[in-house]
Amino acid sequence: MEEMKRTINCGSLTAKDVGKTVILNGWVHRNRNHGGVHFINIRDRYGITQVVLSEEASNELVDIATSLKLEYCIAVEGTVELRPDSMINKDMATGEIEVVASQIQILNSSKVLPFNIDDEKCQAREELRLKYRYLDMRASGMQRRIKLRHDVAFATREYLNNLDFLEIETPTFIKSTPEGARDFLVPSRLHHGKFFALPQSPQLYKQLLMVSGFDKYFQIARCYRDEDARGDRQLEFTQIDMEMSFVSREDVYNVIEAMICHILKKTKNIELERPFRRIDYYDAMDLYGSDKPELRFDMQIINIDEIAKTSSFSVFKDTIASGGTVRMIVAKGVAEEFSRKRISELEETAKVYGAKGLAWMKVTNEGLEGGVAKFFDDQKSEILKAATASPGDLLLFVADNWKTVCAALGAVRNKLGHDLHLIDESQFNFAWVENFPLFEYNQEEEKWEPAHHMFSMPQEQFLKTMEENPGEVIGDLYDLVCNGYELGSGSIRIHDPAIQQRVFNIVGFDPDEAARRFGFLLDAFSYGAPPHGGFAAGLDRLVMILANENSIKEVIAFPKNNVGASPMDESPSRVDQSQLDELALAITSYEEDEV
Ligand code: AMO
Ligand code: AMP
Repeated sequence: MEEMKRTINCGSLTAKDVGKTVILNGWVHRNRNHGGVHFINIRDRYGITQVVLSEEASNELVDIATSLKLEYCIAVEGTVELRPDSMINKDMATGEIEVVASQIQILNSSKVLPFNIDDEKCQAREELRLKYRYLDMRASGMQRRIKLRHDVAFATREYLNNLDFLEIETPTFIKSTPEGARDFLVPSRLHHGKFFALPQSPQLYKQLLMVSGFDKYFQIARCYRDEDARGDRQLEFTQIDMEMSFVSREDVYNVIEAMICHILKKTKNIELERPFRRIDYYDAMDLYGSDKPELRFDMQIINIDEIAKTSSFSVFKDTIASGGTVRMIVAKGVAEEFSRKRISELEETAKVYGAKGLAWMKVTNEGLEGGVAKFFDDQKSEILKAATASPGDLLLFVADNWKTVCAALGAVRNKLGHDLHLIDESQFNFAWVENFPLFEYNQEEEKWEPAHHMFSMPQEQFLKTMEENPGEVIGDLYDLVCNGYELGSGSIRIHDPAIQQRVFNIVGFDPDEAARRFGFLLDAFSYGAPPHGGFAAGLDRLVMILANENSIKEVIAFPKNNVGASPMDESPSRVDQSQLDELALAITSYEEDEV
């Protein structure tokens, strides 16, 4: 029998179409028999249309309708009719009509499903969703998110194309040039013992494109990093990667802000206010305890070193005496609802970030009570003033080194923000975090490392003396943050080979080592490299935030699971001995396969 090809999709028919004969193709979403009347909901990516069998339907048609199981792929021919008033569904695009079937053809049957195709998100456990991802993606929520991802990519291209940016592809087999994370390696068959790496980002190539004169570059680029997968991390992910020549930091901010505004307008019809807020890295850490601050609520961290110094709490006094700091946050009006048990839950959060404890006290009509209040008998009014506290407030303290205090109180602040519903979930709060340190000291390996990557420019005032105290050097670096996530990073780059070599020296690459690893870049810079700078936003994270999700897996068609594997195709997998032989590889240890 010839297949009945659709004349319209399942999301389009309205009262205007009444009387038309149509053919729909799609999947059986529901099949109900109400007192002898068959209702079949047929679904495709555009929507759902209700199909009914009339009382005059032939036995043959009734038999086919009865045999339909969920997710059979079918074709239905029928006439569009208005639904009876009582059955009109205003929430459904096609809710005014139904199609009275004259013919149903089964295009393909379906096995019993591993889980229900739910409307929003399949409720099965994640491993099962990923194993049957092609079914999981039939759910309307996944369909909407994948469409949103397309819309974001499209709006990006539209915006950048209008500004004369060129999308240029860069290779995915490149030289292994560690950029921060671990490289994925690809063994070469033609050059035994040698490897390509998959790019962690197109960083070096986009800089080389600037040397070539492509002054406005972008690419929606796949990036690969062999790191542990987390909620907002995957082994392979996508960046909106950009680079521009002859620009200042302001120029980069301008282009990116306008691009983000364009994307939000086009995909969510949201108008963002510009310019985006700018926060110094040290302020972000001091006030919000994070370099990716959640700015949808306030609750700033308060330094109480001067007060803690004179308290009788030895933990605080000793911490300050040994160069540490004591800081607090104030949870307004929650003192009563926070039992010891709830406070110890907060303490656990603080401890995950390295704090040794989470001291607390409550503000009452009488003053300060509970926890460590007794050590602050003489500082009551100072504490209350610093906290601008009123009765009913809960004060929480961490004493430690600066980084630990910030990280721990930042995490407690975020938990409170969520638990106490202080966050307006409908907001998208974009901000720049800027003036990051260029280098970070790696205590374990006892060496300086680039805080971002080693191609970022030190700010002018540090140029002469950066070797003296690398820890104090501020880079021309910036991150774009949104709703507590790092959305993207960038910098003004070094384009002078001499400065680049000085940065290499600080991170421990002498000229020979630098030439071995990055010779091609240094060489390129010696042919009139223009001043340049750029930025890369995580596309997955952007779409995740716009979709109000908290895992990027929800916006990636075929993601890896939390142990970096794909339950669907069972990759990574072993390969044949002959494949290894061709590559001259010998495996020295095998992971035990799960039985
Ligand atoms: P960076 O390493 O900060 O900068 O990456 C930029 C953005 O990419 C996203 N991202 C990720 N998304 C998902 N999974 C991951 N594993 C992952 N890692 C990073 C984040 C991040 O903000 N070449 C520089 C950019 C530049 O300087 O122009 C770079 O890659 O959203
Ligand atoms: P302790 O005297 O060790 O019983 O601690 C008293 C309180 O101080 C407890 O609530 C601890 O969680 C808290 N505490 C201990 N060390 C610290 C610290 N470094 N910073 C903040 N609070 C702490």
